[in-house]
Amino acid sequence: MYGNNQVAVYKEQKVIGFLAFCVEVDPPDPELYWIFRFMIDKNFQGQGYGTKALNLVIEEIKQLGAKRIHTMHKPSNKTARKLYQKAGFVYIGHLDDGDLLMEKKIT
Ligand SMILES: CC(C)(COP(=O)(O)OP(=O)(O)OC[C@H]1O[C@@H](n2cnc3c(N)ncnc32)[C@H](O)[C@@H]1OP(=O)(O)O)[C@@H](O)C(=O)NCCC(=O)NCCS
Repeated sequence: MYGNNQVAVYKEQKVIGFLAFCVEVDPPDPELYWIFRFMIDKNFQGQGYGTKALNLVIEEIKQLGAKRIHTMHKPSNKTARKLYQKAGFVYIGHLDDGDLLMEKKIT
């Protein structure tokens, strides 16, 4: 996929998670990025790795010139809600499939 960046989350030498992000292409907007996949191995969830990985990726996306980051999650996903809200994302609507749409503005 064009502009697709994939990030592995490591704990020491072991891969414990995965995240994917991309720049908006339709229409092209170099200031808008999407985090569209994010998972931490279930044996390592709830230990702060998701929060750490997300903050590192936000910093990386910021360096790429983003002014806004969008992400989405299922309404029932309370962990994702907490994770993204803690990182400064706010709800701005929903997608056609019912997923909740969130945005973080980069200052
Ligand atoms: C969402 C996900 C990436 C978060 O990663 P994580 O490493 O578990 O996150 P953290 O440990 O940093 O926790 C983030 C917050 O969620 C809370 N949390 C973590 N696991 C939880 C659980 N099972 N139930 C309720 N809250 C939970 C934590 O307490 C933390 O909040 P706090 O700092 O106020 O205590 C991970 O749980 C996951 O992969 N889930 C399945 C896939 C998914 O839902 N992806 C995201 C949406 S696409």
